[in-house]
Amino acid sequence: MQEQVLKGVMAELHDSAFPLLDEVIITSNLATAFKDVNYNFLVGAKPRGPGMERADLLKDNGKIFVDIGKAINDHCARDAKTIVVGNPANTNALICQHYAKDMPVSSFTAMTRLDHNRALTQLALKTGSKVTDIKKMAVWGNHSPTMYPDLRNCTVKGKNAMSLVDPAWIKDEFTPRVQKRGAEIIELRKLSSAASAANAAVDHMRDWALGSSEWQSIAFKSDGKLYGIPEGLMFSVPCTSTPGHYEPVKGLKLDDEVSVARMKKTTDELLEERKAVQHLL
Ligand code: LMR
Repeated sequence: MQEQVLKGVMAELHDSAFPLLDEVIITSNLATAFKDVNYNFLVGAKPRGPGMERADLLKDNGKIFVDIGKAINDHCARDAKTIVVGNPANTNALICQHYAKDMPVSSFTAMTRLDHNRALTQLALKTGSKVTDIKKMAVWGNHSPTMYPDLRNCTVKGKNAMSLVDPAWIKDEFTPRVQKRGAEIIELRKLSSAASAANAAVDHMRDWALGSSEWQSIAFKSDGKLYGIPEGLMFSVPCTSTPGHYEPVKGLKLDDEVSVARMKKTTDELLEERKAVQHLL
């Protein structure tokens, strides 16, 4: 059955006549799948259904990422870049990275670009602007309802976003909407996000590969030296990039009451998730 579905995906890829597509390989053999890969999009994980939270997925999905981490370590190109999309993405990425001991730690990331894009659009809709008018969006922490979508540094057409929107809108509409947008999509579609998630994964990898001076939210493994984020958590931080490298934006203030509380909440959740998969780490 799964193989037939993959054949369907292959047929659609063929039918798209992508000018840069030379070959499609469908396989369930990890050595074949990961051989010499440069860019890993790890979209495969058990998806969340209506009413389920990411924590429910930890158990089932954690195991999958042990084998994938080993396969990346053993078969991928040495400069391979990996984005984990399947949920719980941050903790899956942590497991995966742990089993790829010979690869650079920074080559493993989890996707919060979808949250970043969602935040851009909500602010654009509210201010009657285009997403391209907005600079310096940030999403901190976990790809989950505890994430901290942070527009304190944003500008809209050069104006400080905080001067354009009401604080009550940020608290009661913007923040919960972005945090729970994944669940909202599931409720509407009866399926997890697909097109917007794929688009965000491409945004993430393109900016990482080619570089971009625009802020982009990326979850990567904390070295414990930045913004008080505990060492070893896969934590989303605003970054910029040069070809092949992302760099966290440094020197941002996070000491106001709201930021302190939101950073703590998402950190605590990631610590809990890590505890739940401790046996795999
Ligand atoms: C999303 O944010 O759309 C997804 O991560 C939701 C989910 O749990 O599949």
